[in-house]
Amino acid sequence: MEQSEMKENAGKAAVDALVRNGMKVGLGTGSTAITAVRYIGLLMEQGKLKDISAVTTSLQTEMECEKWGIPTYSLNSRQISGSLDITIDGADQIDDHHFCVKGGGGALLLEKIVAYSSAIFALVIDETKLVEHLGLTFPVAIEVVPEARVFVCKALDRLHGEGIVRFAVRKAGPVITEHGNIILDTLFRQPIYPAVMEEEINHIPGVVENGLFAKKGPHVFVARSNGTVEVRD
Ligand code: A5P
Repeated sequence: MEQSEMKENAGKAAVDALVRNGMKVGLGTGSTAITAVRYIGLLMEQGKLKDISAVTTSLQTEMECEKWGIPTYSLNSRQISGSLDITIDGADQIDDHHFCVKGGGGALLLEKIVAYSSAIFALVIDETKLVEHLGLTFPVAIEVVPEARVFVCKALDRLHGEGIVRFAVRKAGPVITEHGNIILDTLFRQPIYPAVMEEEINHIPGVVENGLFAKKGPHVFVARSNGTVEVRD
């Protein structure tokens, strides 16, 4: 089975299991999360899902909602009032404790705000994302105020990490996030404790947010190459 089919299976399984009429839904970013967005759009078009209010985490997701007519709101709006029923998002890697790394698409800041303001946090992944240790093979994305770049790199070195500025494709210079910051993709030289490291990185002045998600126990939908989807709570 193609990886793209697995992603779609995970997205659909999460929507079928958890999204109900009238819910306020946070929508993540990336190729797996977008399958859930499209499926919600399809169910709404078919009249099988009603009164969904969405909060998006990137322009990519916002545009997909526009395409499907899914109503979107700011997290601050009266409609949403700072709390969501559920967020569905992808991840770059997940360990056995269901801690995960996100931010491969650069949308980690809004993704974390939306995830942590949701009653239910659902992660949709294919089986290639399961790993034993985070931070060793896929970099932890860290959103940093540009002026603090060198200072933060030195602080990360003391945490056994090496931060590398993420460069843009088809544009000279670094990737600039939707909030005007740069991203330091950071690999660690030794295994980390995700819950501790999430805190430690955020204590460095100049760091806006990091892509370790260890404080919100997710429901994980793992799509397997045999066509099944395993649900881990
Ligand atoms: C976006 O910033 C990320 O957190 C994505 O959710 C993550 O990179 C997973 O993306 P894919 O589903 O495209 O692999």
